[in-house]
Amino acid sequence: MKTQVLAAMIAVTAAGAALAHGGVENETVLARMEGMKTLSTQLKTLGAMAKGQQAFDAAEAQAALDRLSEEAAQIPAQFEDEVIVEKSEARPAIWQNWEDFAAKAGDLQQRSAALEVAQPGDLGPALRDLGGACKACHADYRE
Ligand code: HEC
Repeated sequence: MKTQVLAAMIAVTAAGAALAHGGVENETVLARMEGMKTLSTQLKTLGAMAKGQQAFDAAEAQAALDRLSEEAAQIPAQFEDEVIVEKSEARPAIWQNWEDFAAKAGDLQQRSAALEVAQPGDLGPALRDLGGACKACHADYRE
């Protein structure tokens, strides 16, 4: 009996963890993780078009860039409060170098706002440009 209850509890805990970013419950942390996921969804759309897994659609590519730019503009507000919980990959350096962190968010925002993807050949350079901005911040501020 005891074993059964324990097994059921483990199953429930594991399911919950899969849904909530490895068990993160803090709202601030969840919101900024959601924001990051939105960024990566846009890159995936552009990437699928670049690889030919999805038909090229200039309007859809532009919409992904617009979404990226909007979401990047939210990064400073999402990270404003210094919250670090277990399972978060945010480094304390964010709040020690706040201006640099915010500048890197601004860089992503500017790049996504400036890019134009009118034809399939524009996708590769755009992805490299955007990916560079993600990487520049992750290298310093993400575990
Ligand atoms: C200004 C800094 C910055 C920029 C720019 C940035 N990120 Fe992040 N990203 C972070 C930090 C910090 C974390 C860790 C957050 C945490 O775990 O609390 C993170 C986490 C993530 C995660 C994991 C989210 C989760 O659910 O745990 C993904 C995916 C991600 N970023 C994708 C991207 C993509 C794609 C781009 C570029 C389009 C990007 N990021 C640009 C700082 C940045």
